[in-house]
Amino acid sequence: MNPRRIVLAVSGGIAAYKAPELVRALTGAGHNVRCVMTRDATRFVSPLVLEALSQHPVGDDLFDSQSGEIDHIAIADWAEVVLVAPITANLIAKLARGITDDLVTAVVLATRAPLLVAPAMNVNMWNDEVTQRNLAALRERGFETVGPDAGDLACGWQGEGRMSDPAVIADAAERVLTAQSLSGQRVIVTAGGTSEPIDSVRSVTNRSSGKMGFAIAAQAALRGADVLLVAGETPLATPFGVDRIDVGSALEMHEVVLRELAGAQVVIKAAAVADFRPREASTLKIKKEDLAPDGGLQIDLVRNPDILADVCTEVKASGGKQVVVGFAAESHDVIPAAQRKLERKGCDLIVANDISRSDAGFNVDENAVSFVWPEGEIEELALLPKSQVAAELLDRVEKLLGERT
Ligand code: PMT
Repeated sequence: MNPRRIVLAVSGGIAAYKAPELVRALTGAGHNVRCVMTRDATRFVSPLVLEALSQHPVGDDLFDSQSGEIDHIAIADWAEVVLVAPITANLIAKLARGITDDLVTAVVLATRAPLLVAPAMNVNMWNDEVTQRNLAALRERGFETVGPDAGDLACGWQGEGRMSDPAVIADAAERVLTAQSLSGQRVIVTAGGTSEPIDSVRSVTNRSSGKMGFAIAAQAALRGADVLLVAGETPLATPFGVDRIDVGSALEMHEVVLRELAGAQVVIKAAAVADFRPREASTLKIKKEDLAPDGGLQIDLVRNPDILADVCTEVKASGGKQVVVGFAAESHDVIPAAQRKLERKGCDLIVANDISRSDAGFNVDENAVSFVWPEGEIEELALLPKSQVAAELLDRVEKLLGERT
């Protein structure tokens, strides 16, 4: 990933205990992080912890210069984004008024970098009119916000006021740093395997974990797209900024994708759709003792609709300009099979992956894909993290969108 310079400013609330985890999430993604703290924040988390994790000195004093430069200006200028997490009601109020009486407020006022704040406080403090007014003033000045979430609060109350999870804040920071090249575009991504019921407990399904499709949805959201993720069975958490509809069977996925198609500019079908479903599903569990003595069970399978092909037909019939991308999961004869699929289904691009490899394809974090184009061109990519495959794919999608406007 592209390493960026991130200043994390920590203010004095109980959620400051999550600051070390946030530093780890950011440095783990390859970023260079420097921390500044309010004096109150140092009562909740030791600067030494943040220093060890960020591998930079941590400032908490406006007048104690560590670099020989004027610290708050040097840090403010160094930042590509300034992230304030947690931000308390007190700090929101100070920043809304432009008060700069410590290192954190001085860095925030001095920086020209984008600002992202993650509020955390008691639910009543959060809902108080003055807090909301102060926050609105910050938003008007271009501050982005992430959270707070609702739930059990450290003070014993329940409701809005929990700081978002560090992973979610890290994703939000990533989004602030990413060019919003898909802003204004609605992107539908399908992911995971469909599940075709045999009875009330059994089903026919695919091995897909959903990782590839979720990575595409996350990457599209980072680029500012309005993303709808249509997900089959998967335990994966919804990426930051993504709308999600869970579906079970191929018929359900077909219904959702075709219904949403008219409002979208891009459809990317990474889901592993079961090609067949049992002709009839029992609403009750089939009992073994009800079967013939030999114990066998015959299941009559019928074909599922081809969602990708139906999307392409619909786009052509309506004269739509949508970009449609399919995947091809192949165990052998990969490129010719993908080319045949591309022609048969009529999409703009097929992403071919060799699912016979153990280090790529299903269930793993990396993939080795080739982009197969209608004009015959094949672009073969190296083994890459799925997030990077997603980024490469979206670069191509953006180019296609550009050619159509
Ligand atoms: O989820 P992961 O564990 O990360 O694994 C990723 C993946 C291997 C599942 C993914 O990279 C992938 O290849 N997805 C497509 C899997 C698949 O069903 O391929 P296919 O060759 O059978 O289908 C070709 C295309 O038609 C796909 O875009 C598929 O979504 C679509 N299709 C297939 C059948 C059907 N009835 N309707 C469809 O829309």
